Amino acid sequence: MKKVFIKTYGCQMNERDSEAVAAMLRERGYGLAQSEHDADIILLNTCSVRDSAEQKALGKMGLLTHLKRGKPGLKLGFMGCMAQRLGPELLEKLPDVDLIVGTQKFHKIPDHLDHLAGNGHEPVVDVATEQGSEAAIRDHVAPGARPTAFVSIMQGCDMHCTFCIVPATRGPERSRSIGDILDEIRALAAEGVKEVTLLGQIVTSYGRDDIAIRDGKSAFVQLLEAVNAVPGIERIRFTSPHPQGFRDDLIGCYGRLEKLCEQVHLPVQSGSDRVLKAMKRPYSVAKYKRIVEKLRARVPGIALSTDIIVGFPDETEKEFQQTVALVREVAYDGVFLFKYSNRTGTPAATMDGQLPQAEIERRHAELHAVGDEIAGACNARLVGRTMQILVEGAPKTKKVEGRLFGRTRCNRIVFFPGNAPECFRGQLLDVLISRAKDYTLYGDPAILNL
Ligand code: SAH
Ligand code: F3S
Repeated sequence: MKKVFIKTYGCQMNERDSEAVAAMLRERGYGLAQSEHDADIILLNTCSVRDSAEQKALGKMGLLTHLKRGKPGLKLGFMGCMAQRLGPELLEKLPDVDLIVGTQKFHKIPDHLDHLAGNGHEPVVDVATEQGSEAAIRDHVAPGARPTAFVSIMQGCDMHCTFCIVPATRGPERSRSIGDILDEIRALAAEGVKEVTLLGQIVTSYGRDDIAIRDGKSAFVQLLEAVNAVPGIERIRFTSPHPQGFRDDLIGCYGRLEKLCEQVHLPVQSGSDRVLKAMKRPYSVAKYKRIVEKLRARVPGIALSTDIIVGFPDETEKEFQQTVALVREVAYDGVFLFKYSNRTGTPAATMDGQLPQAEIERRHAELHAVGDEIAGACNARLVGRTMQILVEGAPKTKKVEGRLFGRTRCNRIVFFPGNAPECFRGQLLDVLISRAKDYTLYGDPAILNL
């Protein structure tokens, strides 16, 4: 049996795509390798959002092609966003690569590998568009082995933020049907999955072209209601929404749909109206803050996280400081901070006022420190509270023996002493938070399940 190893770069959508590809390959009779060393086929699922992510995957493939010289049967492939963006160009850089598969062709990978295992000796490049491909990401490897699962609800994005390569790599918005998504989630629930995270580049746009607004509720809200009604599912999360589509019907779901977790990842990108406009983000800082206020009024203590880019072209020190002030004002539980990366083909790439890298680094370091300080303070406030966790199992790092972990509804990791992951996995437990550190919490075993 040929064994495949998939290494994933980038976001949760990529993780989900890799898992679906692995499941399709297993179905086709391939084995899943534990590491690249015992693999016959190595696939890199790539990210193009920043140049550094592309460089990492290119560097990795360079090393793998050396490995291939000593192991001639080895097959190597790129898939995902960089494969889509560069296509056959990748073969000029790395002629030993066998397979290049774009973001609408993941489900063709089993066929392509069968072909390469037979008499296909020429590299295969498949980066065409394909109608209906948004419904192809639906298979799971060992569903139920973990109590949580990602579910892809849509592909692509039509927003065209001026810095972003995603609309070019992922294509226009295409949504799966509610029925199709529910089938997948029911099957996951039947396997023991308790928590689903609905994934898309812009989930607030889900179904907007195909599903009519009903009783003032967007297609996405209708989907959330339907998922909330699936027996066995206890928790629902989603990522990422866009502030533009975060309207009152969605805000009204918090507290009303009991499975919807008190946690929102709402990318803001900048705290300056001028920069937001240059980014083509169609909201003001004031409008963003109103969404935050409404969410907090509905669910006191709701956890908020965000994406921010520092060093967008022409961002002044004053505008950067407005972003710092916004982070302090909103007091995010977590900030995903990105250094602006120039992406060829995006409108921002040719804007005047590109900042020197050293300045981008300085702003990044400054805001990073602020983000950590604020998140740490949010975490510390939870000490002494009893919180429900969904137990996921033992941490991967071998260093911490005798410890299990789970996540709160607000998406914080809680470690607690325990030895039998198989007994606890998938259980919802109440834990008293005894200690907080950086981004993690510790629960006291003595009061477990009291
Ligand atoms: N809507 C997507 C966003 C994909 S990109 C989602 O749901 O996750 C993820 C984040 O990367 C963006 O929110 C943005 O903060 C950051 N990003 C995108 N393009 C970037 C660029 N050119 N340079 C730096 N960061 C970028
Ligand atoms: Fe990118 Fe903006 Fe869409 S960040 S994925 S173009 S909402």
